[in-house]
Amino acid sequence: MGKKRVYLETFGCQMNELDSELVAGSLTSLGYSFTRDSDDADIVLYNTCSVRERAEQKVWSRLGAMKTAKKDRPDLVVGVLGCMAERDGTDLMHRMPVVDVMCGPAELDKLPELIDNAVRTKAALAADDPSMAIRKSAKAVALQGSASRRSSTLAAAGDSLESLDLGRMVSPVDVDSKRSAYVRITRGCNKFCTYCVVPHTRGAEIHRPPAHIIDEIKMLADSGVVEITLLGQTVNHYRFEHGSAVTVDGVVQPQKGRTYKGSHHRDSFAGDETTTFADLLYRIHEEVPAIRRLRFVTSYPRDFGNDVLEVIRDCPRICRYIHVPAQTGSNRMLKMMNRGYTIEEYDEFIDRCRSYLDQPELGRPLMLSGDVIVGFPTETDEDHEATKRMLERSRYKNCFIFKYSPRPGTVAYDKIPDDIPDEIKRARNNELLALQARISDEIAREQVGREFDVFVEGLSRKEHKKRGTDVKPGSGMVGITINGAASKAPVAVMDEAVGGDELVQFSGRTDGDLIVFFDAPAQRTDLVGTVVRARVMDADRLNLRGELI
Ligand code: 5AD
Ligand code: SF4
Repeated sequence: MGKKRVYLETFGCQMNELDSELVAGSLTSLGYSFTRDSDDADIVLYNTCSVRERAEQKVWSRLGAMKTAKKDRPDLVVGVLGCMAERDGTDLMHRMPVVDVMCGPAELDKLPELIDNAVRTKAALAADDPSMAIRKSAKAVALQGSASRRSSTLAAAGDSLESLDLGRMVSPVDVDSKRSAYVRITRGCNKFCTYCVVPHTRGAEIHRPPAHIIDEIKMLADSGVVEITLLGQTVNHYRFEHGSAVTVDGVVQPQKGRTYKGSHHRDSFAGDETTTFADLLYRIHEEVPAIRRLRFVTSYPRDFGNDVLEVIRDCPRICRYIHVPAQTGSNRMLKMMNRGYTIEEYDEFIDRCRSYLDQPELGRPLMLSGDVIVGFPTETDEDHEATKRMLERSRYKNCFIFKYSPRPGTVAYDKIPDDIPDEIKRARNNELLALQARISDEIAREQVGREFDVFVEGLSRKEHKKRGTDVKPGSGMVGITINGAASKAPVAVMDEAVGGDELVQFSGRTDGDLIVFFDAPAQRTDLVGTVVRARVMDADRLNLRGELI
């Protein structure tokens, strides 16, 4: 078989972006190559999201287009990976026989084998009877299915998925264009918020051994990465019990616990044999100093001890940025969502974060961000007003606002009718967007005159537009498309046309994740991937304009 070309498109969250990067790495090592054009591919993969119906609709329309494409290319292999595959199960394949491969997010280590099987089956079918190859799926399937609620110890013992993260390869070519990387610390979720599909698609919460995480970060740092974002659905729940055997390829890996020595409070500490989230942050900070920026998403507003806040406060390379969704400001809604905290507890947490971490006078204001769901069933005007007050109090730098979307398989879908009309959802959504825009704008203006460390990511989007150059996908891997197009953030891709004394606009981020634009001579491409000092001169919404100092 010749070298097969793969087109991989990613929808959904950062966890999916990381999954795609790891999948691409493992397929590359097996001899596959990647293309940015699905017409040019032998294998088309969609890494999908199920969190809202809209994310799924996009994939349905892509699959519709593939049905047409297959008519001319009977041996084309089409795969659906990720949360939608897990949620829909083989129903999806029945509805769309164009799909040959289905692979849930907890089974991605099996993907190369599935693809290989599907490629062979398709080739055999096409050789035999091309019309059959067009109509028939190759049916290569790996889903977690009913195994999804294994206990975390059991899951950890049999966690073959760990090999996907462990097999990560970083080539200097990728790093040239990207000095920032995601590293998973926790998989899955045990929370069961009533609206959410994630515990059903990604399975039980599993924590990776600290030694694996640190080795991965060291490897990334050695290849030039300077910014790491730790990923977990409830990242602050991280906790690794060293006594419990974790096997990778059947080998038990004994671990020695280390503790966060600077901590006086041990809120989430349970003994020397446990690595807590605070311990993990401290170890990464101390053991991999080449990482200039360490951040983490997404935090759950409960179980976030002062020990974590102390580590962030005491470690200069840990970012003062916390993404901690409240979802709503109404206690009645919180209860129906099964969030497990009251709005008073949430407020107390935000106050605690500020008292530990908000130091604007040192150029380190704490930046918070959140998520809100509007139009959850039975939401009244009063509940909505409570959410508005919550936004005013939380003062997020930005907040993602979603209209409630009932998801099959969740408790809310089964038990609570979606009774808020769409026009009310839309009106409330717009109201919150406007309110948040005002708050974001105010926060941006408060930064004027302050000095910050800015991590330089590359030419700004505007500069790219001016030159008609490409802003490459955020993943940095050539041939992976994120959410159907180029990245959300401009990345460090410099094109050959840039050079000389001419001033060009660069973009970077503060440690609180605020975007700063500044001008520098075009030849200063060496700034990319470094941290510079800048003074904010002007602000418009969340765009800060700075000057190098
Ligand atoms: N409908 C709307 N928004 C949702 N989210 C999760 N599930 C749903 C749903 N069914 C939002 C939450 C979560 C973010 C990732 O997506 O705000 O924090
Ligand atoms: Fe979407 Fe959630 Fe799955 Fe991420 S974990 S892809 S947000 S459903």
